[in-house]
Amino acid sequence: MDELELIECAMKARKMAYAPYSNYLVGAALYTKDGKVFTGCNIENASYGATCCAERTAVFKAVSEGSSQIAAIAIVGGSRDQELSYAFPCGVCRQVLREFGDPKEMTVIVAKTMTDFKRYTLEELLPDSFGPDFNA
Ligand code: THU
Repeated sequence: MDELELIECAMKARKMAYAPYSNYLVGAALYTKDGKVFTGCNIENASYGATCCAERTAVFKAVSEGSSQIAAIAIVGGSRDQELSYAFPCGVCRQVLREFGDPKEMTVIVAKTMTDFKRYTLEELLPDSFGPDFNA
């Protein structure tokens, strides 16, 4: 699974976004260390606070299926019927990702198109973080 395939999977997942309130549609696709791909979209709710981001949908699908070591995640997002913007993961999603991989190793890709994307480590997006190693 290369980065471009992962971006493609995120774009496909974005088509399933349920975002009638914000009309901001997000898709995510992650690759686990055991070689599986899990995708997710944002799922909004009439009670706005019950909304789940695309990244967390994908992470919770992976962990609930027994794959909890994330190697890379690709994220695509943008307003309905507009060009994609760089959809950076929110703070909560960064912290959730922190739980399931080494922040120095985990790759986070934020893509507008297949040729226009940025690549970070999770550590770059969430420096000096708190993680499971602190609770041992
Ligand atoms: N959203 C995500 O899916 N991921 C993020 O990291 C940021 C925000 C969603 C939540 C909500 O449905 C919409 O984008 C607007 O905030």
